[in-house]
Amino acid sequence: MTDSVPKTMILGSGRAVPDKILTNQELEKLVETSDSWITERTGIKERHVAEPGTGVSGLAADAANRALEDAGLSAADIDFIIVATVTGDYKFPATACLVQDMIGASGATAFDISAACSGVVYSLQLADSLIRSGAARHVLVIGAEVLTSMVNWQDRDTCVLFGDGAGAILLGPATEGRGIISVDTRSDGSLSELLINPGCGSVNPPTPENAAEQLHTIRMKGREVFRNAVSSMAKSLATALEKAGVEAGQLDLLIPHQANIRIIDGVGKNFDIAPEKVYKNVSSYGNTSAASIPIALDEARRAGRIASGDLVGLVTFGAGLTWGAAVLRL
Ligand code: ACO
Repeated sequence: MTDSVPKTMILGSGRAVPDKILTNQELEKLVETSDSWITERTGIKERHVAEPGTGVSGLAADAANRALEDAGLSAADIDFIIVATVTGDYKFPATACLVQDMIGASGATAFDISAACSGVVYSLQLADSLIRSGAARHVLVIGAEVLTSMVNWQDRDTCVLFGDGAGAILLGPATEGRGIISVDTRSDGSLSELLINPGCGSVNPPTPENAAEQLHTIRMKGREVFRNAVSSMAKSLATALEKAGVEAGQLDLLIPHQANIRIIDGVGKNFDIAPEKVYKNVSSYGNTSAASIPIALDEARRAGRIASGDLVGLVTFGAGLTWGAAVLRL
């Protein structure tokens, strides 16, 4: 368990999304669905989608540059770049290396992590450890996805859910009274098949036969994912709050992973926290996986929903299964 005195705080944030927006009404023309079904079951009205062939690195670099500007730092100040993504530009090299080159952070060590929607909470724990140990002064954490590159546009169960985007958080030494107070992370690989992209890896390499079976697209057992998401997120948030020694009611804002409005509301109901203190933007982005929390955090900061000194909770869940939560003083 980490020392509960914060050592790492957020110095800046940024976000970037593709210009193109795909509405529910446009999806009605692709598959048998309706705006009302999507809205009632998920809360999603529209999502940003990248042009086919767009690398996620470009969105990640744009978000990173905005975070640097926000922090008043330059790329030369960054010691580590961690990109959380399941839709990197290539199998290798890591997208973080491409971002390093794009933003000119030539002194940084750069690598990706794969924890699906939980990637940024996992990365915050890593960044905190790097800074606490003295291995780094500034760590750039980016959650970035072009999930629409692995969507089967004929599968109405999944194609309505996802969107593209990137969010970046620049972390550095904490000033007194601010910073990451607690992080809780968990995984359960025995449930890996509930949400999986079975193609393109070593089990199902990209052969014409596997491509014809759409193995490179997302497969999901939605109801089971839903059930696990609500209970695991609630448990993890309770653990992070307990470690931090605070009550849910003391949070100025809870930022849950933006997968589905019913998951967000389901988690919120487990805690004594006013609905207006639970951040929601899933209606205009869909589920952007690792990008969802940093996009929401940046949006909330820039809109003045949260400011320096506020107590913020983060809680997430994703493929793996992976989940986690964090409590920080902004
Ligand atoms: N439009 C219209 N009908 C649809 C659609 C659609 N897009 N998708 C499914 N349906 C139909 C189904 O075929 C089914 O029809 P049937 O009753 O005739 O068989 C009916 O709607 C109900 O389907 P369910 O899957 O049982 O619907 P459910 O209420 O569970 O909602 C949903 C589905 C939205 C996927 C829900 O299970 C969910 O949100 N799960 C969480 C999944 C998630 O968010 N995953 C993202 C990644 S993990 C994460 O980020 C948390």
